[in-house]
Amino acid sequence: MARITLRQLLDHAAEHDYGVPAFNLNNMEQGLAIVEAAAAVDAPVIIQMSRGARAYANDIMLSKMMEALVEMYPDIPICVHQDHGNSEATCISAIQHGFSSVMMDGSLEADAKTAASYQYNVDITRRTADIAHMVGASVEGELGVLGSLETGMGDKEDGHGAEGKLSMEQLLTDPDQAVDFVTKTKVDALAIAMGTSHGAYKFTRKPDGDILSMKVVEAIHSRLPNTHLVMHGSSSVPQELQDAFNKAGGEMRQTFGVPVEEIVRGIKYGVRKVNIDTDCRLAMTGELRRVAKDNPGEFDPRKFLKPAMDAMRKVCQQRLEQFGTAGNASKIKVLPMSAMAKRYAAGELDPVVEMGRVKERTAAE
Ligand code: G3H
Ligand code: 13P
Ligand code: ZN
Repeated sequence: MARITLRQLLDHAAEHDYGVPAFNLNNMEQGLAIVEAAAAVDAPVIIQMSRGARAYANDIMLSKMMEALVEMYPDIPICVHQDHGNSEATCISAIQHGFSSVMMDGSLEADAKTAASYQYNVDITRRTADIAHMVGASVEGELGVLGSLETGMGDKEDGHGAEGKLSMEQLLTDPDQAVDFVTKTKVDALAIAMGTSHGAYKFTRKPDGDILSMKVVEAIHSRLPNTHLVMHGSSSVPQELQDAFNKAGGEMRQTFGVPVEEIVRGIKYGVRKVNIDTDCRLAMTGELRRVAKDNPGEFDPRKFLKPAMDAMRKVCQQRLEQFGTAGNASKIKVLPMSAMAKRYAAGELDPVVEMGRVKERTAAE
């Protein structure tokens, strides 16, 4: 049994000072790439599925696939997570399908494009956490709205995200409000707005502190040292992947992602979950294009998908090594969700204070 909750995994990561990449999954090839990478370096991993992924692959297919991956790699703790849930129904139905963790993204309304009010966000996130915790599932919330500090625009690029211009107050999570939000909602992890955005076109230059605000991470961590922070939109969009994609006939204009060294710095300041989808997509489609270009007569899909899978596995393995996740799978004794439910019911998992207790316990041992 290696299906782990986000809360248990991130508690372990916080106690041992590492971060965990959360890779998006839509199909079998991505699942195999992620789990083979994790197994190769003894790393726990988060596999997340968006609403788009659930619509694309069907809940039954996805839940059986996750079951298969867990069975194939019993020694790898795998957190099965709903990415950007837009309503309680999305989150609860994910749990019904075997997800051990959900993101209730109340930073946006249910249409996933209108920036929501603070009160709406608190209410829907708290309601979701109340229900999810009853069965031991974890909840990630989001405060602040993802978008670009360069342009002020929301990140509508790949279908999910705020439309139009946002204010600086929306684009940068307020540390005092973060304390209030976590205290009221009891989320297990908090996604923050700090200048990252989804998709390939994050920055027009290598980001500095003006457009990627690591200061916000530090400020929130200093007020909420025991709360697990989440960085969305954290693909690095490596130059070599852009070049490979373009060389094979793709058309991607020069762009910059979130440098790995900035993520590693974030991990020192409480970032525990790092969302990566674009890098995996780019690695895969670069290879699909290369095979198509080099072998115009090829029509066996496996000849395309195998190298694509290999390229994604390489990205996943790199991140698991860079974030310090590698080497930790065998150190975790996975608790069933029922045990986590009891811990919530006993009031043991307050997100504001619990990690402090864990650290004190560890120090005293
Ligand atoms: O949240 C963004 C992820 O990259 C998932 O994207 O909604 O196109 O599956 P998607
Ligand atoms: P990227 O587009 O940077 O990979 O971000 C993915 C993400 O945040 C999914 O929730
Ligand atoms: Zn995201």
